[in-house]
Amino acid sequence: MTLLTSLASTIASAQTPVATISSPEKNMRVDVFLNAQGEPSYQLAYKGKPVLVDSRLGFTLKNQPALAQDFELLSAKTSKFDETWEQPWGEERLIRNNYNQLRVALREAHGAKRKLNVIFRVYDQGLGFRYEFPKQDQLHNFEILRELTEFNFAADHNAWWTPAQAGNQYEYLYQHTPISKMGLVHTPVTVKTTEGIYVALHEAALHNYSTMNVTGAAKGKVSATLVPVSKNQPVAVTLQAPAETPWRTLQVEESAAALITNYLTLNLNEPNKLGDVSWIKPAKYVGIWWELHLEKTSWKSGPTHGATTANTKKYIDFAARHGFSGVLVEGWNKGWDGEWWKPGGGNAFNFYTPTQDFDVEELSRYAQEKGVYIIGHHETGAAIENYESQLEDAFNFLSIYGMKAVKTGYVEAGEELVNGLYHHGQFYVKHAQNVIDMAAKYKVAVVAHETVKDTGERRTYPNIISREVARGQEYDAWSADGGNPPNHTAIIPFTRLLAGPMDFTPGAFELTLPSRPKNQVNTTLAKQLALYVVIYSPVQMASDLPEHYEQHLDAFQFIKDVAVDWETTRALGGEIGEYVAIARKARASNNWFIGALTNEKARSIKIKMDFLDAGKKYTARIYQDGKQAHYEKNPGSYEVRDMDVAIGDEVSLQLAPGGGAAISVIAR
Ligand code: NOJ
Ligand code: CA
Repeated sequence: MTLLTSLASTIASAQTPVATISSPEKNMRVDVFLNAQGEPSYQLAYKGKPVLVDSRLGFTLKNQPALAQDFELLSAKTSKFDETWEQPWGEERLIRNNYNQLRVALREAHGAKRKLNVIFRVYDQGLGFRYEFPKQDQLHNFEILRELTEFNFAADHNAWWTPAQAGNQYEYLYQHTPISKMGLVHTPVTVKTTEGIYVALHEAALHNYSTMNVTGAAKGKVSATLVPVSKNQPVAVTLQAPAETPWRTLQVEESAAALITNYLTLNLNEPNKLGDVSWIKPAKYVGIWWELHLEKTSWKSGPTHGATTANTKKYIDFAARHGFSGVLVEGWNKGWDGEWWKPGGGNAFNFYTPTQDFDVEELSRYAQEKGVYIIGHHETGAAIENYESQLEDAFNFLSIYGMKAVKTGYVEAGEELVNGLYHHGQFYVKHAQNVIDMAAKYKVAVVAHETVKDTGERRTYPNIISREVARGQEYDAWSADGGNPPNHTAIIPFTRLLAGPMDFTPGAFELTLPSRPKNQVNTTLAKQLALYVVIYSPVQMASDLPEHYEQHLDAFQFIKDVAVDWETTRALGGEIGEYVAIARKARASNNWFIGALTNEKARSIKIKMDFLDAGKKYTARIYQDGKQAHYEKNPGSYEVRDMDVAIGDEVSLQLAPGGGAAISVIAR
């Protein structure tokens, strides 16, 4: 038996491909195979060297034979595509979408002769492929048990990953191990090959399907693991042909930094379906939030209630004084007084009934008078049916009161929704779309916490403007492990952030937390400023309390100045878990903003200003760690200095342990 299996795999790898396609510059090459049993597989090579070796394709289905063998090739059609499209908002205004496509049409040779297509789009920066289930009498309504797709790396490389289905959704610190030690993990998972190539494995355009997690095994083998409906229902996806899967994506680059500006997953999403989206505005915001996490005030009503009319006015005044557009208010509505985070507790939430001490009429009038808007908050406690039953009323309420954005939340214990279904399965993916659709109807932008991972839907629905979906800065306030270690923000630019914008909520200026003596924000103050550039999000919070900003108005100036919408992004350098430096040019402006940060190690880095316009003069304001700054012992020490810069100049930065630097480069 063993002999036979190894003989069969030798034959498979020695086979000649039934179809082949290369990227426009011929960097990337995909070969597709059918072995003697008619089992389809593919391989991916970069500059002639294997990235993925013989990797299986196919499905097992409920009450039907697997769609995985006995296939013969019907056709293999190639085509080319090259266009440059414009993002309504984003980290890059113009994005080139240039690929060669191969559509492989397969049909079973015997039995029901079911059909299955696989479409490969090969870019110079990676690969996307998806399955199509063509319309056919032999396959109409069907249920997928498992997707058999493999991503078998050529060796057992090292990977950065977070565990999937492990009880706390996406809110984990990253681990760094060989692929064989990963187990079941979320995507994006980022791999560094033994040859020094960086590969991020993820998916794009996740609609009406379940989330793909992946499982690592010996020798660098990786396989897709779809999230099933629930613990007791092994079916993962219910579909009706014609149908298609999300794209399975591999972003491939020669440096870690280059991954940051790899837009492959966005390119694999459909163009904007919302038409005129000028109502969706990137923005900076403040709000009644950090004081809740610090337990200075509470979500629940009563004497400690944070979301009072008077307190909200204080934040509106602060926002208006310093040029912020939005004021987030959490705990403004009915439902917070019970144990809302426990199973079923979220059913108490009402999304259009404010608490008695929150005068929504007066506050929306006051906000409008001051030129700001309130950002609504829909914490659901993962009680989806309760939320969906109020969805129209909830968004109508937001629009009546001029709330142009809403933050949603799905806090729960474990991986299951209140109805027992898995949080990242097909049911939730459809729910997330229902929210996006309703929000679009009422012209509201959505910032989703504890939602499903981003797979680039913002291209199609630009009102899904940001998400959390990782450990954000909230952990620094209360996490029993002491909060996010300094390397966290040096890892996520190369992992989580490849999926899309993140509402990390930076901006802590009080870094030791008197009301939370066991916790501390594990960064220097200058590193907090760097996060506004390093962590891309079109909505960025200045999360700290107004009184903490008032004490450091010179440093606060950076948060006031920094843009949230970009013409272009340059990843200047970085290594995963070590450091990162990014420059971004503000849209409709000549100004640049730069952020650089390090892990727990001090580091000196040089920023070469070769991206500036020739002949222009700029003033650089540099916000950097003080000489004695240290994320643990002396986090609040910083310096601000100005210097003239022009194209080609080099700026040296000394980053403290757990530190960083931010630079605004203003054209004169
Ligand atoms: C978790 C979110 O990430 C956080 O920002 C929010 O304040 C709480 N849930 C309460 O909704
Ligand atoms: Ca969260």
